[in-house]
Amino acid sequence: MQSDLKYSVAMRSLHWLVVLAVLIAVVAIEVLDFFPKGSAARAALFTVHQTAGLSVLALMVLRLLARLGTQAPPPVPGSPLVQLVARLTHGVLYALMVGMPILGVLALAWGGKPIQPFGLNFTLAFAQDKTLSHLAKEVHESGATLVYIAVGLHAAAALWHEFILKDRLLRRMI
Ligand code: HEM
Ligand code: HEM
Repeated sequence: MQSDLKYSVAMRSLHWLVVLAVLIAVVAIEVLDFFPKGSAARAALFTVHQTAGLSVLALMVLRLLARLGTQAPPPVPGSPLVQLVARLTHGVLYALMVGMPILGVLALAWGGKPIQPFGLNFTLAFAQDKTLSHLAKEVHESGATLVYIAVGLHAAAALWHEFILKDRLLRRMI
């Protein structure tokens, strides 16, 4: 495959780093429920969740800069409807990857709880508001379901291209 048909090395690296960070954030928060409330393991896993989640946000900022600063390869041939669905899914993924970490931080900040990523421990100077905290947490949790759906569809589409259509689309991102 010609190199001009691939995403830039920055876009490719950032894509897979985001995938890794999301995976760590999700595994940490899902495993957390196996440990009793108040346990050290539970606290450590929540710290891992926050660290990985905020890494997603930092990587997405770099990714948006890389996306604006480099040329994306032209879309693979396909019906306009399929191309539209792909573009929409990518847009939803961008929105979720930026929105989810912000909602997580807001849920903690409005709840008057500390934010503890990367071994840090700080509170944001927000007026405590239980209603807003609860709302941000609810939207964050519903957003998590959307993450599962959007990533599932996106990964299934990539694998469909690779194994059924055999059009080497996956290689644009590797
Ligand atoms: C892309 C990044 C993130 C993803 C995909 C994500 C995903 C999730 C998931 C799957 C849950 C569990 C939902 C449930 O139990 O139904 C959750 C809970 C939560 N997350 Fe995140 N999260 C991200 C980033 C963050 C960040 C950066 C913070 C805060 C700094 C955060 C704070 C929270 C909080 C406070 C909860 C509720 C925990 C509880 O009390 O049960 N999240 N998140
Ligand atoms: C957290 C998980 C994931 C997120 C957030 C994500 C996000 C994205 C986004 C936003 C794009 C569009 C690139 C752009 O134009 O900026 C993209 C492209 C792509 N992703 Fe993912 N992705 C994830 C997981 C995966 C997985 C698991 C696979 C493979 C099985 C995959 C394969 C691809 C491929 C092949 C492209 C290029 C599509 C094209 O050229 O039209 N992604 N991804």
